[in-house]
Amino acid sequence: MMKVQAVGVIGAGLMGSGIAQVAAESGYKVVLRDIDLQYVDRGLKSISKNLNRDVEKGRRTREEAEAVLKRLTGTTEMEALSGCDFVIEAAVEKIDLKKAIFRELGAICKPGVMLASNTSGLSITEIAASSNRPAKVIGMHFFNPVPVMKLVELIKGAETDQETVDTAAVLVESFGKEAIFVQEAPLFAVNRILVPMLNEAMFVLMEGIASAEDIDKGMRLGANHPIGPLALSDLVGLDTLLFVSETLYQETGDSKYRPCPLLRKLVRAGHLGRKSGRGFYIY
Ligand code: 3HC
Repeated sequence: MMKVQAVGVIGAGLMGSGIAQVAAESGYKVVLRDIDLQYVDRGLKSISKNLNRDVEKGRRTREEAEAVLKRLTGTTEMEALSGCDFVIEAAVEKIDLKKAIFRELGAICKPGVMLASNTSGLSITEIAASSNRPAKVIGMHFFNPVPVMKLVELIKGAETDQETVDTAAVLVESFGKEAIFVQEAPLFAVNRILVPMLNEAMFVLMEGIASAEDIDKGMRLGANHPIGPLALSDLVGLDTLLFVSETLYQETGDSKYRPCPLLRKLVRAGHLGRKSGRGFYIY
């Protein structure tokens, strides 16, 4: 099995910066790449903030936090990933963008280097087909907030070989997380169940059945969810949620999965949840 030492992460947003943090905390050298230095800096800042909180809470020493930061390199250059032996893509949920990234990674990364996508539900087979190594491409789906959530879904595309699955599983374990193994299908397993529930909460709000606060309180106290569905939607990001909902609807053609119009309206208004300061709630 391949021994991973340096991990590349593409996309320094919520998910990418979380993945980069977890990889660096686990001892890997990490190259975090985004298209704009502003995004790279924002990602690195959020990692520093999380590490500082750990120091303040006595969960790690200042020296340990500094060592984690030293293992991280931010960049806008795709070529900087050429020395990595496992690359995880966490760009926005647009299939054409992901395909272009995997095409480029195929050209830049050494043969045998494995490429993973953190897509929330797009086809791994389709993404893999655009690279020059479909057998070495896998879905590696993390959950938000990445430093806290224990699960990673591993998704095999049509061509993914067993060595890639095994290497990804070992990597997940070394990150201190647990893997579940899922066949390719729109939204895989967890989002297939979770996203329609979040969408339904939006319909309940839109139809005036209950307030946002009461819907969330209802699911926290009545179903023991750690956070209500509307607050969780704000945490995930409403733009991401809309992409994901649209994928499920388009891929299945089943009207029960149609995205709630209220979600579309909020995204069109630029209210994307916590990251933009406003979604179902104001932050
Ligand atoms: N980064 C790092 N650590 C974080 C964090 C973040 N963004 N947000 C919270 N934490 C940590 C904090 O360190 C805190 O620990 P501390 O107080 O000891 O420092 C701990 O989590 C608890 O945080 P809070 O006290 O602020 O708040 P909560 O108790 O409400 O916990 C939560 C926050 C962990 C996010 C919790 O609400 C939760 O588990 N929510 C559900 C999350 C969930 O379902 N995620 C899946 C989303 S779906 C997805 O990602 C798939 C995608 O494809 C759409």
